[in-house]
Amino acid sequence: MKRTKIVDIFDPALIGSDVSVKGWVRTRRGNKHVQFVALNDGSTIKNIQIVFDMARFTDEQLKPVTTGSAIHVTGKLVESMGKGQTCEVQADTLEVYGTADPEVYPLQKKGHTLEFLREKAHLRPRTNTFGAVLRIRSALAMAIHTFFQERGFFYLHTPLITASDAEGAGAMFQVTTLDLNDLPRTEDGKIDYSSDFFGKHTSLTVSGQLEGELGATALGAIYTFGPTFRAENSNTPRHLAEFWMIEPEVAFFDIKDNMDLAEDFIKYCVKYALDHCRDDIEFLSQMYDENLIARLESVLKDEFVRLSYSDGIKILEESGKKFEFPVYWGADLSSEHERYLVEEHFKRPVILTDYPKEIKAFYMKQNEDGKTVRAMDVLFPQIGEIIGGSEREESYEKLSQRIEDLGIPMKDMWWYLDTRRFGTVPHSGFGLGFERLVLFVTGMTNIRDVIPFPRTPGNAEF
Ligand code: 4AD
Ligand code: MG
Repeated sequence: MKRTKIVDIFDPALIGSDVSVKGWVRTRRGNKHVQFVALNDGSTIKNIQIVFDMARFTDEQLKPVTTGSAIHVTGKLVESMGKGQTCEVQADTLEVYGTADPEVYPLQKKGHTLEFLREKAHLRPRTNTFGAVLRIRSALAMAIHTFFQERGFFYLHTPLITASDAEGAGAMFQVTTLDLNDLPRTEDGKIDYSSDFFGKHTSLTVSGQLEGELGATALGAIYTFGPTFRAENSNTPRHLAEFWMIEPEVAFFDIKDNMDLAEDFIKYCVKYALDHCRDDIEFLSQMYDENLIARLESVLKDEFVRLSYSDGIKILEESGKKFEFPVYWGADLSSEHERYLVEEHFKRPVILTDYPKEIKAFYMKQNEDGKTVRAMDVLFPQIGEIIGGSEREESYEKLSQRIEDLGIPMKDMWWYLDTRRFGTVPHSGFGLGFERLVLFVTGMTNIRDVIPFPRTPGNAEF
């Protein structure tokens, strides 16, 4: 008999038919006459109830059916008398694939804390919470591809190993095959990378943007969607050392077009999740955050506020609020500032533009005032910065001057500067941190809980 996934079993047309179900036991309870098993196979947040009539099964047969064990049951699907479920399976046959010794299986039925589950990241996908989060994460990945593909963007694969620091922030992981106990040296005592695997010093990429710009100035509109790596020692609920980023880049786009794209894009993703992951979102809302659905819906309905950094600073200064980090023109905003603007002042998402050039990356288009650049950060409730982007400096002279002023090694950037030497055009793009989007949509509060196997300072287990 063909297996029915649990997500498909609640179809009223199946009532009365014989079914075959496979999955992991969540709970077993009952008495000597009847035993009830809640079975989950990961296809949905819902469990199917299996009813064992103990006139037809022995205690010995049911003994290995404990929380965490994997079983296969065939039987008749019938309407359920019990509350909380529409149908259940009356078991005819039972096959046990794998047991899970109750003495040692860590996920017993009582609710575990998220902190505890982080230490059991190899098993936590089997919990309701992580099942829901991972299904939503998967749906959001589909939403992202669908959004861009429907609009004629091409999916560009940018390299993960690179010799350039795209953000100029220096927080990169080195990639080397040199013997660290016996490093080759140049005459002046520095490490000789010419004998390294790539013949030069290389790292894991912090962003695919620079190569994305090469794609955009050829294909017109591209997006990347892949892992990025940052060796910043930020132990916060919003930073990972390995995270996924989506970076669209579009030729002939100015910052206004870029803001419109960012707003449409996020709204599309949130709506996609509400339309496709209702059960999972409702579950997370009940468990963790009763305002979750209202917050998701309000993002869809509200137009994002568009505001310059300078005006944002004014609002923060005049708020009379005591912030942990000081506010002044020129300061980099921290998430308490961003969240004040979004959650308390405007009560909806904010796109902040035209930041001081000193706190932004070298590639951003310089404004006429000589002080600011055409940057745009999208700030979200609960999250703070969810997107960072800009219009790009398309002038060869201005860009190479900026690279020189900042002391970025020009020889490494020759290929990037060629986009400005040959057929340069106005263009813009942004990066969305995928896990920050998943955080927002799931209502989870720690970024370690929205990626299957988080990488953070001091932690690369699993
Ligand atoms: O603002 P960022 O650093 O911008 C860039 O990397 C640009 N190259 C993007 C572009 O214009 N194409 O990073 C973009 C987004 C942030 O807004 C944030 O959502 C996320 O990436 N992000 C992180 N997410 C998790 N952990 C970290 N350590 C992150 N750093 C940035
Ligand atoms: Mg940023």
